[in-house]
Amino acid sequence: MNFFKNIKIRKHVTTVDKHFTVLNNRYLNVYGDVIEASRTKDPGEMLAYLANGAGIKNGMKLLDAGCGVCGPARYFASHFDVTIEAVTATKLQAEIAEQRNKEANLDKRIKVKHGDFHFLSDYYPANSFDIVYFFESFCHSYDIQRVMDEVHKVLKPGGAIYMKDWFLAERLKNKNTELYAHTKRRINEFYSFNFKDGINELKSVEDYLTSHGFKVEFGRTPGYEKGDYELTALFHGNNDIYGPNNEYQENNLVGQINDVFDVIEIFELKAVKK
Ligand SMILES: C[S@@+](CC[C@H](N)C(=O)[O-])C[C@H]1O[C@@H](n2cnc3c(N)ncnc32)[C@H](O)[C@@H]1O
Repeated sequence: MNFFKNIKIRKHVTTVDKHFTVLNNRYLNVYGDVIEASRTKDPGEMLAYLANGAGIKNGMKLLDAGCGVCGPARYFASHFDVTIEAVTATKLQAEIAEQRNKEANLDKRIKVKHGDFHFLSDYYPANSFDIVYFFESFCHSYDIQRVMDEVHKVLKPGGAIYMKDWFLAERLKNKNTELYAHTKRRINEFYSFNFKDGINELKSVEDYLTSHGFKVEFGRTPGYEKGDYELTALFHGNNDIYGPNNEYQENNLVGQINDVFDVIEIFELKAVKK
């Protein structure tokens, strides 16, 4: 059973690797080294907010799950006396991250691995991290419940899982079931997500955490959205206010997708290992 499940996970994660490899230059051009669609104009403002939300403090050991090219990890390592293990499914990103960490003289404190966060306990010792964080990476999981179980294993008791990530929203589902299903399928295909009803909503994730050894502290809309906020999403139409992403969208999407943000939404979630 596990054997076949693992094959499916590996197949999905290979498509994630391909997605971020093929689109690497575009991602870096559009987003810089913080590859997140929901952000403040100055990403440092958001990262300061996220550090506070996660509860990052000097002396902590962090795990960056789905680290991209380590933009967030470098920010944390240069503002706090922390050590970070960073894992990405994208080999090319891991190579770029290592190079940039070295250039920033942070390679001793940030260790990068090309790997899959469905298998965290294969790479890292049990009970070893203060915080495991996901920034717009949890959404790429094949099996979020398995990922949460893996995070539980590697966290210290009292340690926290923290994420700022995409969840399924139900607004369109209640208005137009067919369009909802179509849009969700296209999002899954395009971004290598595996969003499933009853699994990927904020409430489903909170319920799973609560019944699997965590205490949820909060699940909420990120507070930085009240600041100098922008949503640089790739699915937007040909609308100037969304800036450089139009280029990405026009070149990579066949057909227009509406109502994306009635199907997915960003939340910030924190839960502590009991
Ligand atoms: C949108 S990018 C976000 C990168 C980074 N968190 C940031 O804020 O810049 C998503 C990242 O998740 C990683 N990812 C997706 N699925 C993964 C998996 N199963 N294991 C490890 N990394 C994964 C991708 O390789 C990519 O680095």
